[in-house]
Amino acid sequence: MSPGKSGIHPAVSDRPLSGLRRSRAVLVTGAGGEMGHALIEALAAREGTSVVAMDIRELEPGVREHCENAFVGDVCDAQLLERLLAMYEVDEVFHLAALLSTRGEFAPETAHQVNVVGTLNLLKLAAEQARSHGRPVKFVFPSSIAAYGIPDLDTKRKAGAVKEDQFLEPHTMYGVNKLAGEHLGRYYEGHYRKLAKDRMERPIDFRSIRFPGIISADTLPSGGTSDYGPEMIHAAAQGKPYACFVRRDTRIPFMTMPDAVDAVLRLAAAPKERLTRCVYNVAGFAPTAGDFERLVLERFPKAKVSFQPDAGRQSIVDSWPEDVNDSAARGDWGWSPRHDLETAFDQYLMPRIAARYG
Ligand code: SER
Repeated sequence: MSPGKSGIHPAVSDRPLSGLRRSRAVLVTGAGGEMGHALIEALAAREGTSVVAMDIRELEPGVREHCENAFVGDVCDAQLLERLLAMYEVDEVFHLAALLSTRGEFAPETAHQVNVVGTLNLLKLAAEQARSHGRPVKFVFPSSIAAYGIPDLDTKRKAGAVKEDQFLEPHTMYGVNKLAGEHLGRYYEGHYRKLAKDRMERPIDFRSIRFPGIISADTLPSGGTSDYGPEMIHAAAQGKPYACFVRRDTRIPFMTMPDAVDAVLRLAAAPKERLTRCVYNVAGFAPTAGDFERLVLERFPKAKVSFQPDAGRQSIVDSWPEDVNDSAARGDWGWSPRHDLETAFDQYLMPRIAARYG
């Protein structure tokens, strides 16, 4: 373990810079979020990887201990990003920081700032890094099923598993922002500064996954609209009643957090020549809210689940596909989820949640 990975550290270490070579690192933004928790541990276990984290809040010690350094701040703070890049030679970025779909509808302009301007800042700095060290910077960007916008329920039911280029008219600011992030990444990879004489070809190696709802046994999401799945399970495990904010027949795709982390790592590791696109769907299982209720009641017979749909949040989930077609991810980089709905409960969620809540 490197000295930077143990003990208590200030948010940003004050190591002197002059005369020192910058050390190579992988940057993870939104490191304190749900995916950050799970991904950082897996990244730190990769041989030769030093993780530099960034989050708007101080990291929990369990996450911090896997990082070489941790910066507290905003992805819109260009000065902080520049300071970070003055200290580290970043050759891979996992840009997880975002405001999710429910929170984004309460503050759409703030969501745009964080989700789009923050992404633009990072892409620009990544491109500058690429120029300075003469190699492309890999930029991994989790996008979302929120990038889809299906006009009505009838169309959603008929559409079934949608492909990456269908229904790209999102109804939420978050979805609009994620779609914009995908396009920005594609632009920085293939077209950035098209007319500049001194332009570098392909400074960014941009790779993106449109994630479904994600269920973790260890953390709870906040501010999303797929949150009813994980919330129902965690509430039941704690013996708390749960009022589900969507109808029982609501169907969207989900996957477990270990599968989501596996997808990120597999896509990041895939040989570039195998990739036929920048943005990939990944599917896990596609239960209704009623399927979650059934499994929760089977595993926790005393659980109390009611359905009290919220019209606004329901309309968001109704605009997301019932399922996604992930054949490109399967063919190009060997995507294959470990968990279906039953094994997600029995092999992943139940043992860990039982341990967590006793
Ligand atoms: N989990 C996200 C949300 O609910 C969707 O990707 O906003």
